[in-house]
Amino acid sequence: MHSPILDLDFIDSRTPEQASATSCDTKVTEETNTGRQRKLYIESYGCQMNFSDSEIVSSILFEAGFDTTSEAANADLVLLNTCSIREKAEQTVRHRLTQLQHLKKKRPGMVVGVLGCMAERLKKNLLEEEKMVDLVVGPDAYRDLPSLINEVDEGQKAVNVLLSREETYADINPIRLNSNGVSAFVSIMRGCDNMCSFCVVPFTRGRERSRDAHSIVREAQDLVKQGYKEVTLLGQNVDSYKWQSEDGVEKVNFAQLLERVALISPDLRVRFSTSHPKDITDEVLYTMKKYDNICKYIHLPAQSGNSRVLELMNRTYDRNWYIERVDAIRRILGEDCGISTDMIAGFCSETEEEHQDTLSLIDYVQYDYAYMFFYSERPGTLAARKLQDDIPLEVKKRRLQEIIDKQREYSQIRNQLAVGQVQKVLVEGFSKRSDEMLSGRNDQNKVVIFPKQHFKKGDYVNVLITDCSVGTLFGEPVH
Ligand code: SAH
Ligand code: SF4
Ligand code: F3S
Repeated sequence: MHSPILDLDFIDSRTPEQASATSCDTKVTEETNTGRQRKLYIESYGCQMNFSDSEIVSSILFEAGFDTTSEAANADLVLLNTCSIREKAEQTVRHRLTQLQHLKKKRPGMVVGVLGCMAERLKKNLLEEEKMVDLVVGPDAYRDLPSLINEVDEGQKAVNVLLSREETYADINPIRLNSNGVSAFVSIMRGCDNMCSFCVVPFTRGRERSRDAHSIVREAQDLVKQGYKEVTLLGQNVDSYKWQSEDGVEKVNFAQLLERVALISPDLRVRFSTSHPKDITDEVLYTMKKYDNICKYIHLPAQSGNSRVLELMNRTYDRNWYIERVDAIRRILGEDCGISTDMIAGFCSETEEEHQDTLSLIDYVQYDYAYMFFYSERPGTLAARKLQDDIPLEVKKRRLQEIIDKQREYSQIRNQLAVGQVQKVLVEGFSKRSDEMLSGRNDQNKVVIFPKQHFKKGDYVNVLITDCSVGTLFGEPVH
């Protein structure tokens, strides 16, 4: 089930279905046919926040007269919503732009735009580097898209990469793209104020700002009315969510927001991503414990198991702090709570002993799964300016492989613990391999496959887990 490692830059120990806030894959648009004049094709790369932004962009452009299409070849406007997190992510987009160039030659009127983090990082230089690009728009400037497209229609190239301290797109009702109609992502904040030394996000997404709590609750309520059963609250660092009303009377932190969303309906599952180890509070953990419908799963990226490396990374916690937070999760939510991580192998000056600390942290925590990367220097970041990227590529790759091998053992062990348990699974659709089998997720975000019987998408089913692989659980419905 787990494919051999082809892409050493992005490695995911889970099945594609389990990929969440930090995964790198691509999604294209579904068709909307409401008879609008022009057709938009949008492709998203990078994290879930980009996928969520594409839904906002589709909504803004729907109002401006665009239907969506799933075929770039049918589109009047092709947008790539891009990611800059690692060099490989940018290479993928450049490769895609080359492919689109051929299409554009065949369709001279077609407008090609780059959105998202690469647009923000490279700004108008992107127009010089990629001559066929007509439009460059950063993550906080999507409201300006209709007028920028007008400029392009008039024969100019158009750029808006202004970052904002306020924009949260709170009032925009996203058009759900590629939705299974069961689970949806809801953006609760934008930007990031942490300055992890390896990370480009603060530069591409700007300052952290939290979205109006009422608009978040309203969006989740609307989703419930439309039949959705699960929402994932998204932010780079959800635990630092903080919103207050204009008069300053109402103040909402992340634990309180989580509670408000959980109270919408006991039938609505609530998830969130990503938690930062320095900010996750016991209050959040107790709120999770209090509500059955808040899923017992936390993505808690460690990045490294060594305190000196964590300091160089500017993560603002050390190994002991991280372990204390994991202990708190286990103490308050029990051993069953799923925990996953992100790890970076071969950060600047990391020694073999320090790498061993990352392996021993994996032994300590026994993660359910992990996203694992080797360090990729990003221009302009603190690390690029102050530290030397001095670990040879071969060493980075070997260390990464050791991390992956260890993690795979624990993914298997953690999945094995589920065998024999009856778990509540929310059905998302048919299994990829057979229409006789359904695929859903348990509380810990693990994919569970079981015989269809009379069940359907959107049902909660109690499933006795009978078997597992590294990435998937298998079972039988119990009545
Ligand atoms: N906000 C999240 C992470 C967002 S980026 C957090 O703080 O955990 C997703 C993941 O990409 C990071 O957790 C990190 O593991 C990885 N990453 C970020 N920059 C990287 C770089 N320069 N090289 C390799 N991996 C990187
Ligand atoms: Fe990047 Fe750190 Fe912010 Fe995560 S918390 S987005 S790793 S700067
Ligand atoms: Fe996300 Fe990539 Fe930007 S991970 S925030 S799309 S750099």
